[in-house]
Amino acid sequence: MTYQYILTGAEDGVGVVQLHRPDVLNALSRALMDELVEAMEAFDRDEGVRCILLTGNQRAFAAGADVREFADATVVDMYLAYRFQQWERIRKITTPLVAAVSGYALGGGCELAMLCDIIIASETARFGQPEINLGIMPGAGGTQRLTRAVGKCVAMEMVLTGRLITAREAAAAGLVNRVVPVELYLDEAKSVAREIASKAPVAVRLAKEAVLRAFDTTLEGGLDYERKCFYLLFATEDRREGVRAFLDKRSPKFTGR
Ligand code: COA
Repeated sequence: MTYQYILTGAEDGVGVVQLHRPDVLNALSRALMDELVEAMEAFDRDEGVRCILLTGNQRAFAAGADVREFADATVVDMYLAYRFQQWERIRKITTPLVAAVSGYALGGGCELAMLCDIIIASETARFGQPEINLGIMPGAGGTQRLTRAVGKCVAMEMVLTGRLITAREAAAAGLVNRVVPVELYLDEAKSVAREIASKAPVAVRLAKEAVLRAFDTTLEGGLDYERKCFYLLFATEDRREGVRAFLDKRSPKFTGR
């Protein structure tokens, strides 16, 4: 499959998707989002891909929705054309997603990074929800996922003033996992992705699901769900292999079965 607005590749069990509209700071046009969802779902179906890495370029992860696309839109145009299902489809991907973020991650760009499970940021990364400056507000999870990640005060300031925060502020607030020098952020993210890809795939997917469940349910419901996933993994060959390898003092060879 060839794409116009993204670049894709895979190695060591890691599927890489790079947003590629550099002239407009990777603005998330509908066509780009179509390709992104398509590529991510294809990786999600591919048993050989055990982690997905999403990145942009050094100047921008993504500077948000493509403003030119909705400059003259009416509410009906937006309702009919703006397919938030694309975001739901990314949310439903069970393969872990690692974001490597450098430069601008604004609006939909910040929301896209937040849909990922782990975020590695370069020192030059800037996160923000500047929609308020356009007379609108976040529409792809910014008020919800940002608030869950950083708490009410930081989220309110970002959403109500549009102020961009630095990578260090983002790390202090719990929005990103860590901040590394710009020349290292992609390698660091790839290394995290490879590490995840080396684990037992079914355990990884169920563990991701269980952690995400913590945002949607009561503690009791979440614990119940966790326990069922835990029991389920005792039916896998990889559980037997993992335990046996530990006892034999060797590295496990996981097969995804
Ligand atoms: N949609 C469409 N085009 C965008 C874009 C977006 N969200 N963000 C940047 N671009 C385009 C610019 O229009 C410009 O195109 P041009 O060269 O044809 O004029 C190009 O990307 C480079 O951006 P520019 O503004 O010249 O770079 P900068 O370094 O001066 O500023 C930003 C960078 C990110 C601060 C600024 O581009 C910006 O504020 N972008 C909009 C962010 C936003 O509001 N996102 C939420 C949208 S809902």
